[in-house]
Amino acid sequence: MSPTTECRICSGTVTEFFDLGRQPIADAFREPGSTAEEFFYRLAVGTCADCTMAQLMEEVPRDLMFHQDYPYHSSGSTVMRAHFEGVAKRFLTTELTGDDPFLVEIGSNDGIMLKVVAEAGVRHLGVEPSGGVADLAAAQGINVRKDFFEESVALEVLEAHGRADVVFSANTFSHIPYVDSVLAGIRALLAPNGVFVFEDPYLGDIVAKSSFDQIYDEHFYFFTARSVKNMAAASGLELVDVERLPTHGGEIRYTLALSGARTPSAAVRELLAEEDARGLTDAAVLEGFAASVARNRDDLVAELRRLKAEGKRVVGYGATAKSATVLNYAGIGPDLLEFICDSTPAKQGRVTPGTHIPVRPPEAFSSPYPDCALLLAWNHADEIMAKETAYRDAGGTWLTYVPEVRIS
Ligand code: SAH
Ligand code: TYD
Ligand code: ZN
Repeated sequence: MSPTTECRICSGTVTEFFDLGRQPIADAFREPGSTAEEFFYRLAVGTCADCTMAQLMEEVPRDLMFHQDYPYHSSGSTVMRAHFEGVAKRFLTTELTGDDPFLVEIGSNDGIMLKVVAEAGVRHLGVEPSGGVADLAAAQGINVRKDFFEESVALEVLEAHGRADVVFSANTFSHIPYVDSVLAGIRALLAPNGVFVFEDPYLGDIVAKSSFDQIYDEHFYFFTARSVKNMAAASGLELVDVERLPTHGGEIRYTLALSGARTPSAAVRELLAEEDARGLTDAAVLEGFAASVARNRDDLVAELRRLKAEGKRVVGYGATAKSATVLNYAGIGPDLLEFICDSTPAKQGRVTPGTHIPVRPPEAFSSPYPDCALLLAWNHADEIMAKETAYRDAGGTWLTYVPEVRIS
């Protein structure tokens, strides 16, 4: 019998389909040699028989993940900067054209999106609990409230600023187990014709690409059009549009409106039909996913051992939160991966959670180049390959594991 738990959305029964074992906090990079005890939890994912929502079986306390030293900086990727500039510009020419419009962003991080809204002189507020990244945004003239967004905060924002035309959230809504409170807050905050737009990794892409490393403590939910439609309906909201995005290995931008305020688009109907035809949350499909991931892990470890036996130097590229899942699940430590290079200052000089692999600045990559690089930031492959053409010219190879283990 697979373990079960209670659904955070509808109180139905969630049945586990995949166990990734004992895992640390994915973004908890450590001082080398630290003797402080590391926090571990059981990383496993299941789906609800009633509302179909895929979700983690165990919740990690939010303050352990999102705090003053949260090291993820959204602006580290030029592709993502361009993406969010596009998002902001679209809102500015569509939803934000009325009299004195107001946009709220949940999880504004270092201001990657709000910067563009602020520069356009439009009223805005970021709600961001991680103090360090919130300060980076505030230093650029962006309005930020350092808090976890939830109903009480939404009501205070409403009181202080009035209704919002847009509530936006990227790669954050899926991080919040307590959606009932968040959605109640959004419903209260939205103007009658306002929209809640959010972008998060798509379960359909995770299954299709075996991108199991999207599963870690911060990613509590794995959305589909079907599960989001059910979740919205339970909170007086309605799914009115979906748009597939290439970001982070395949995401969907969902648009919710107050029930009955807008007409759902054809794209919603089409994606629901596609998901039903695929049987996306059927037990057989999810068990097939789990089996393919276990094969990928075995192939990856075999490849790293082979390279080591041949005396090759292998380093990691991108100390992503995702990499914590891969490295801990596969038991890959400094014996197989010499170090991981990463452009984020807050991660450099530290070691990875659980596996204690040193993180070095990008310069370490080329001094001298390794024989092979494990591409842990595979969702930024195009940007990284374009930057590292000299590595390939020097004979370097890339090892990838999504959708399957491959050296190229
Ligand atoms: N929107 C950015 C940041 C994603 S990282 C991007 O797409 O790149 C997720 C962010 O959500 C972190 O900065 C974290 O501090 C924030 N976060 C986590 N829980 C939150 C909550 N309840 N309310 C607002 N922000 C939250
Ligand atoms: P990302 O995949 O966006 O997110 P997550 O941590 O949630 O899995 O993280 C990308 C990481 O890769 C981030 O730590 C910055 C790093 N990076 C580089 O070192 N060089 C680059 O060129 C890019 C694009 C990212
Ligand atoms: Zn449910």
